[in-house]
Amino acid sequence: MKVLMVCLGNICRSPMADGLLRDKVSKEGLDVIVDSAGTASYHVGNSPDNRMRATAKSFGVNIDGLRARQFVTSDFDKFDLIYAMDESNKSNILRLARNENDARKVKLILNEIYPGENMSVPDPYYGGDQGFIDVYDMLDRATDKIINDLKR
Ligand code: 4NP
Repeated sequence: MKVLMVCLGNICRSPMADGLLRDKVSKEGLDVIVDSAGTASYHVGNSPDNRMRATAKSFGVNIDGLRARQFVTSDFDKFDLIYAMDESNKSNILRLARNENDARKVKLILNEIYPGENMSVPDPYYGGDQGFIDVYDMLDRATDKIINDLKR
């Protein structure tokens, strides 16, 4: 199984989701590939945001080694599941879908823990420190659900 986490910049939310799921996959010894990407190109090649890295580290997750890249159409061929952080990410991804099979792979990550509610992981970029903690907490719970499903 291959799972891709997607946000706008690939420096805050999706690297956090990526790091959390990677750690859980590793702890469970599962054969799952995890990656992340952004729909925008502004931050390509950059490390995750310092504030997201610090929050991750405070909870024991190291995301320092991740580097931002842009989502590309061929990601539909490489990944089985594509998790968008918010509706805007989702529609940006779906704009690149070539067929129903591509589109079917795209899900809102918080629907894993709030089924059918179409809630968003808020973009923490322009806010304060609590925003990063909130992002961590939501993604920790969502990735717990994802890992439990992957184990089955
Ligand atoms: P992310 O947050 O999508 O969670 O990585 C953002 C990071 C940067 C920008 C927007 C969102 N930006 O506009 O530069």
